[in-house]
Amino acid sequence: MRRFDVAIVGTGAVAALHAEALSGLAGRARVVAAVDVDEQRRTQFGTRFGVRRLHRDLDELLAAGPPDIVVLCTPPGLHAEQAITCLDRGITVLCEKPPALSLAELDRITAHTAADGPYFATVFQQRFGSGGLALAGLCRDGGFGRPTAAVCDTLWHRPDEYFALPWRGRWETEGGGPTMGHGIHQMDLMLAVLGPWSEVVAIAARQARPTATEDLSCALVTFENGTIATVANSLVSPRQTSYLRFDFTQATAELTHLYGYRDADWAVTGAPGHEERVGTLWTSRLTGVDSGHAAQFRHVLDALEASVPPPVTPADARSTMELVAAVYASAFTGRRVRRGEIGPGSPFYERMAGTGAPWPAPAEAVTGPGPVAGPG
Ligand SMILES: NC(=O)c1ccc[n+]([C@@H]2O[C@H](COP(=O)([O-])OP(=O)(O)OC[C@H]3O[C@@H](n4cnc5c(N)ncnc54)[C@H](O)[C@@H]3O)[C@@H](O)[C@H]2O)c1
Repeated sequence: MRRFDVAIVGTGAVAALHAEALSGLAGRARVVAAVDVDEQRRTQFGTRFGVRRLHRDLDELLAAGPPDIVVLCTPPGLHAEQAITCLDRGITVLCEKPPALSLAELDRITAHTAADGPYFATVFQQRFGSGGLALAGLCRDGGFGRPTAAVCDTLWHRPDEYFALPWRGRWETEGGGPTMGHGIHQMDLMLAVLGPWSEVVAIAARQARPTATEDLSCALVTFENGTIATVANSLVSPRQTSYLRFDFTQATAELTHLYGYRDADWAVTGAPGHEERVGTLWTSRLTGVDSGHAAQFRHVLDALEASVPPPVTPADARSTMELVAAVYASAFTGRRVRRGEIGPGSPFYERMAGTGAPWPAPAEAVTGPGPVAGPG
């Protein structure tokens, strides 16, 4: 078994989840270095996780000795430039979501990968719980019949202070609001289950938060297999929930959670006459794996050991990013948007804001007691 040396770039909130996940992988990977422009953060991170090699920027890390994998936990606006720097040195990159600020940036990153490595993978950890993997398999092999309808709700709450971090709530640095930054996890899981989407009609609004981006979007998404989904992405919902529902001709599968799920968070109901078969089939596919960074890391390391592209591949992440772009394009132009329509030359290809949000920009300063952490 090969052991992979990992460097984490950006030692803020999410980096701790990576370090914890990596430490539980039975020696298959270890964090050998960490990078942050903020000295206090990188020192605290080094002390907490026993990482001795600490660098103040990516160039210094690479000059001191390149690792096997760089994990990018920096704000979204830095992902493309940092990923390309690593890929051009032959280093595989695992990048936090969103992988880039736009489809154009993601395509640029992908152009620096190669079929036999270096690879670029995006962290979409909700795909890797055993319930999500089981349902994707059942959708592919028809075990629950044909999918017809779906619900994809990310109804979260972030107070104004959450946006005091300078990169949040701005198109240029976060790339979008809850559609791009929060609901993207659930939409990605929905796409992992249902496959390619084909058409979107959407509305976006800024209801309450002091952001340039939306704080609410609602969409109707049609899939190539005929499924029709309602999708809501909110940061203005005090009773928070993440809810996914998939109706098949022979079963309904529901997932209710917040930031991650276990097998017990799924409920599966058979259609009349299918109850017993559906229940048995579902439980036979579960393996007790919680969704999360550790679950994705195992799949990434398996792929690297087998010399194949690790998940989530640029093509899979692109489908999710294109859905995000299509939600904004439909919301801001009032048109129905088809997959494949947003390419070079479209303003929504270059930036998620495309032709521009219809609401006025907020006052620059965000007031409040200071930054509030929250999973994104
Ligand atoms: N998968 C998830 O569940 C999840 C959860 C939270 C955040 N995220 C994503 O992770 C990324 C980081 O989010 P966060 O909440 O940890 O942000 P954060 O602001 O807490 O941390 C970012 C860190 O990057 C550092 N940094 C900034 N510029 C840098 C540079 N040039 N080189 C090195 N370090 C630099 C900052 O000093 C900071 O410590 C974002 O893309 C976010 O969307 C994903």
